[in-house]
Amino acid sequence: MDKKVTVIGAGNVGATAAQRLCEKELCDVVLIDIVEGVPQGKALDLTEAAPVEKHDAKLTGSNDYAPSEGSDIVIITAGIPRKPGMSRDDLINTNAGIVKNVTEQVVKYSPNATLIIVSNPLDAMCHVAYAASGLPKNKVIGMAGVLDSARFRAFIAMELDVSVENTHAFVLGGHGDTMVPLPRYSTVAGIPITELMSEERIDALVKRTANGGAEIVSLLKTGSAYYAPASSAVEMAESILKDKKKVLPCAALLQGEYGYNDLFIGVPVKLGSDGIEDIIEIKLTDAEKTALQKSADSVEELKKTLKGLGY
Ligand code: NAI
Ligand code: 2OP
Repeated sequence: MDKKVTVIGAGNVGATAAQRLCEKELCDVVLIDIVEGVPQGKALDLTEAAPVEKHDAKLTGSNDYAPSEGSDIVIITAGIPRKPGMSRDDLINTNAGIVKNVTEQVVKYSPNATLIIVSNPLDAMCHVAYAASGLPKNKVIGMAGVLDSARFRAFIAMELDVSVENTHAFVLGGHGDTMVPLPRYSTVAGIPITELMSEERIDALVKRTANGGAEIVSLLKTGSAYYAPASSAVEMAESILKDKKKVLPCAALLQGEYGYNDLFIGVPVKLGSDGIEDIIEIKLTDAEKTALQKSADSVEELKKTLKGLGY
């Protein structure tokens, strides 16, 4: 393949993302983890599936970063996931150190890569990766809104018994309990869901979306969601690799947009070969602005925690 994507962290999200990338024949894939044998074993297993899955993407597993040299995109999933009873924010201490260390090594070998951050707490980890990479702001992008919107879409399709392909949804804000699903901008075949469901049912789906990560954690008990997160990161990577210019909700560094400064938070962006090519500012109602402010406040709190930890 003429494109190369490195996935850091060969755990649940990372290995599933590697599988989706190669099975879609988007790129060659390098899988990196600190645990010896795991990235090599998973890369070999996926390579052995290639004849059956009919793809020619090359997979490499490694504990060092040399094979990642010249990557177009690096997806960072390294870190610990949450267990029942933990919030994403409980991961900040451990994951900040991991994300900083990983990012420094990534940019040594791939100074022109676009980074897609997945590790939690997502918005805070974007700040850590942005500072550690020295990359321009369009090249550091957080994955959360695509996942949160996909969950909202799945629940809308289940509720109305329609194809998921007919659904569109927008979830803004930080990737936490304060995320802001926007029913007004969520549609089925172009029809706003506010025309198709009662306010009470919309509220129930909005709550289920905001609680979507915790719902999976409480079922799995040993870790968090990975199929939908991997699909979401790969949708972002595909838009960049193919320069599709899809408009997707992603965590982006705001410098004045929506009235915020120096803050990573989920907003609609255009993703193309240059990473974030545009941040789209949509009009919000007063209630939506208040909800976004609450979400921004919680990311500001995480920034303070990072500062206290020396990041
Ligand atoms: P996992 O535990 O299955 O995999 C994490 C992997 O990272 C492990 O294989 C571990 O060995 C590796 N790792 C740890 N330190 C490393 C280092 N310094 N260098 C390289 N690899 C290292 O966890 P999972 O389920 O894959 O989740 C990964 C992260 O992604 C978690 O922080 C989780 O909370 C987050 N996440 C974020 C989502 C989002 O929407 N932004 C959605 C799903 C997960
Ligand atoms: C999720 O929303 C754990 O952030 C992850 O599933």
